[in-house]
Amino acid sequence: MQSKILAVFMLLLVPGLPVLAQTPNGETVFQTHCATCHLAPTSPEIPNLDALSIYEPNAILMALTDGVMRLQAQPLTEADRVAVTEFLTNRKVVAQTTEFKTGMCKTPAPMTTLEAGPLWNGWGTDTGNRRFQTAVDLRAEDLPRLKLKWAFGIPDVSQSRSQPAVAGGRLFMGSQSGAVYALDAASGCTLWIFKAGAGVRTAISAGPITTANKSGYEVYFADARATAYAVAANSGRLI
Ligand code: HEC
Repeated sequence: MQSKILAVFMLLLVPGLPVLAQTPNGETVFQTHCATCHLAPTSPEIPNLDALSIYEPNAILMALTDGVMRLQAQPLTEADRVAVTEFLTNRKVVAQTTEFKTGMCKTPAPMTTLEAGPLWNGWGTDTGNRRFQTAVDLRAEDLPRLKLKWAFGIPDVSQSRSQPAVAGGRLFMGSQSGAVYALDAASGCTLWIFKAGAGVRTAISAGPITTANKSGYEVYFADARATAYAVAANSGRLI
């Protein structure tokens, strides 16, 4: 491997080599920009080649564009990023997220109050950011008896960081892809999806609209490109 890396550097250093407008070679991009850390990782949080091969292609692209690898990927062109992603996953990068049609709520009821059931609005259960749910009588001995009610797979991402918020009988959740989901907390069906410009890691806060002559609820969050959003809680429309 060492000699391969050396060969790549030598090639780059040879002056006067004709510059070919070719599709970049993903393996070369990897050797030049990623191998030092990812070939023989020195810490368990760094994915090795095997681990990278099972990532969704779009999850790698996002890590390079807006995610934890954006600094390492700064010298790369868009074509380099696609090439290294396709080399790592052995799969083609296709346009992101096929249209989301399954699991949508059939007859969504408008949100009329924040307190429809237990509240976990924003980062904690109250403005003191407490981390314990007091609205339901849940004891340690109850935990082994909890049953899975529904599960939701977030498309196109490799990890989940945004803490879900529960308000008005809904669950609001951001994602690494920038998609923000509003789910019905009871059934797990999807009420709406909003696309932010970059990954959303923040918890989501819901609150009443306080503008004169207006009513209803909004949700607030920010993305990894430093844009803050207010979105209508009922429809996901950008405010
Ligand atoms: C200087 C060392 C270094 C270099 C160079 C580097 N990485 Fe990483 N990479 C890391 C570390 C450390 C992590 C774990 C970061 C974390 O979890 O916060 C990581 C994580 C990742 C992840 C997982 C991201 C996620 O969101 O789960 C991917 C994908 C990745 N790197 C791809 C690449 C690619 C492709 C390149 C080359 C273009 C590259 N890295 C270059 C150190 C590096």
